[in-house]
Amino acid sequence: MNSPVAPLVDRFARRITYLRLSLTDRCDLRCSYCMPERMTFLPRAEVLTLEELYDVALAFIARGVRKIRLTGGEPLVRRDMMQLVRALGRKLDDGSLDELTLTTNGTQLAEYADDLAAAGVKRINVSLDTRDRAKFAELTRRDSLPQVLEGLAAAKAAGIRIKLNTVALKGINESELPDLIAWAHSEGHSVTLIEVMPLGEVEGDRFDHYLPLDAVRRDLEARWTLTASDARTGGPARYVDIAETGGRLGFITPLTGNFCEGCNRVRVTATGQLFMCLGCEGKVDLRAALRSENPEAALADAFARAMGEKPERHGFVIDRPGAAPALARHMSMTGG
Ligand code: 5AD
Ligand code: SF4
Repeated sequence: MNSPVAPLVDRFARRITYLRLSLTDRCDLRCSYCMPERMTFLPRAEVLTLEELYDVALAFIARGVRKIRLTGGEPLVRRDMMQLVRALGRKLDDGSLDELTLTTNGTQLAEYADDLAAAGVKRINVSLDTRDRAKFAELTRRDSLPQVLEGLAAAKAAGIRIKLNTVALKGINESELPDLIAWAHSEGHSVTLIEVMPLGEVEGDRFDHYLPLDAVRRDLEARWTLTASDARTGGPARYVDIAETGGRLGFITPLTGNFCEGCNRVRVTATGQLFMCLGCEGKVDLRAALRSENPEAALADAFARAMGEKPERHGFVIDRPGAAPALARHMSMTGG
């Protein structure tokens, strides 16, 4: 892939500079809003090899992507994933990539933190909804909070900046959110709160725990001084600085807010399906292109189709009790 190729720009003149690449749909936790206990995972043969994942990343880099986030499922449960991280780390060294990051649940972080830092990973997102061990065990169906806290400490010690992603859940972590935020800020981590999204079938009804973030924000405003920040990442989060804790707090409100205008990102699943939007069905098969006779031409064609199809905005709904998921696929397929 040496010939110059057209940068990725969609019909709405949005440049795609950010790729979220899922390494696996598997996960060692079972967060109840994310997947059922008996989740059906993909047969291994359908998943891209590490070499194919690297080729996908290179194809995006050649087309102007400057930032790659590795996601899952849980990316750190994929065997040999450090090989890919190191290979992509070399793209940071040669200036063809600005940032390599990762979204993880933290359970394996203690083992990998030093290697990740050495490969050039400077920031990571860690999913953490509660610091209460019993609640964590109930919510994720695994008693892994101690490992996650160890992982956070290891990442911090390795000099990696940490952002916690916390899904706000009515009746589960609602009352704990101020404490969680205060603790995270005291550790030097930032926090982003996320509204639960209707992605994939789970046991139970997500609406039961749907907690709109405008209510959370009002509650926090009664307690602390929140100042809206201009910080934007091209993504859906809006940020405030909290005077009392000295930290930053983000809000991702896919259901009550709109953020599609500035979208700079696409997602690739572990099977090489390119999704142009987290909230829509449209996809393009990069695996078929990669495994075809002439991958370079097939990829060029696939990217052209994808840019022609990236929708202007998504259409999530979760505001009806018992509503079917807006999308059949789980977050663990596209990695959030
Ligand atoms: N709605 C909102 N967030 C979700 N996550 C997983 N499934 C959902 C969902 N249905 C979160 C995880 C993690 C991030 C990648 O996405 O908790 O923080
Ligand atoms: Fe695993 Fe993340 Fe889904 Fe939880 S939310 S089950 S950590 S993929």
